[in-house]
Amino acid sequence: MSALVEIRDICKVYNPGENEVRALDHVSVSIDEGEFVAIIGQSGSGKSTLMNMLGCLDVPTSGLYRLHGQDVSHLTDDELSDIRNREIGFIFQGFNLIPNLTALENVELPLIYRGVGKRERTSLSEKALGKVGLSHRIHHKPSEMSGGQQQRVAIARAIAQAPPVILADEPTGNLDSHSTKEIMGILRELHGEGRTVILITHDNEIASQAKRVIQIRDGKIESDTGEERNGVSAGAGNEEKASGRPTEEGAGDQDMAAAAWADTADIREREREQ
Ligand SMILES: Nc1ncnc2c1ncn2[C@@H]1O[C@H](COP(=O)(O)OP(=O)(O)OP(=O)(O)O)[C@@H](O)[C@H]1O
Ligand SMILES: [Mg+2]
Repeated sequence: MSALVEIRDICKVYNPGENEVRALDHVSVSIDEGEFVAIIGQSGSGKSTLMNMLGCLDVPTSGLYRLHGQDVSHLTDDELSDIRNREIGFIFQGFNLIPNLTALENVELPLIYRGVGKRERTSLSEKALGKVGLSHRIHHKPSEMSGGQQQRVAIARAIAQAPPVILADEPTGNLDSHSTKEIMGILRELHGEGRTVILITHDNEIASQAKRVIQIRDGKIESDTGEERNGVSAGAGNEEKASGRPTEEGAGDQDMAAAAWADTADIREREREQ
């Protein structure tokens, strides 16, 4: 069986030339369907850059990315957008809900974009919101919900149409410890149901809840607890290297969120037409 995610020898170089930054430096990783993987590393190590690749929000400078068997390394923006809609459920640190829409409408948005009809998308969205324990809040707007509840709405949005990959970038970065437990519980449950969950974090404790931990440092994979299967040689010593420094909402997260939801205006337009 081929891997769900297959990255081979990927490099990402920003500002090629004198001030170039090699954000990813010959990274290879394979992730199978149903895995629960944490990607951990310090600030600037290349986590968001890797997430951008995994989430088809950007293409590598060199190397190969095959998602679900399809080579996505050289696609156009439109083609990448199609793949994102079909294959990936995103969860961001900052929730990225649309403030003037209710929980239900927020969850329905990507389904409209995917062309799912009204009745089916309402049913899928209600089910997803039920799954994250928010059946009683579906008509509430984000400002009427706690941070943990908002992140649960975002998870419902990510899982409503059962995408093959759930990609979460610091999903608990803005949450208190109680909500963090709740969100991690939901992610574990999704994994238990056979979903593929990829979690990006700088926090060792969060990472340790995943079944497999990939440590990234200076754009290279430093260790991978799934390395035997992947045949990737890497050093050991996860423990001390991941820092426990507080999270910051990086500009990268905003950019990613913007790209992932760039079609929002378009979606609302269609909603009005229906
Ligand atoms: N658009 C860009 N242009 C130039 N350099 C960039 C760009 N985006 C990221 N970098 C650089 O690439 C490296 C990796 O950045 P990246 O955002 O992937 O790190 P990160 O691990 O997500 O960090 P954090 O935990 O702070 O979010 C850093 O040195 C960063 O300065
Ligand atoms: Mg980042």
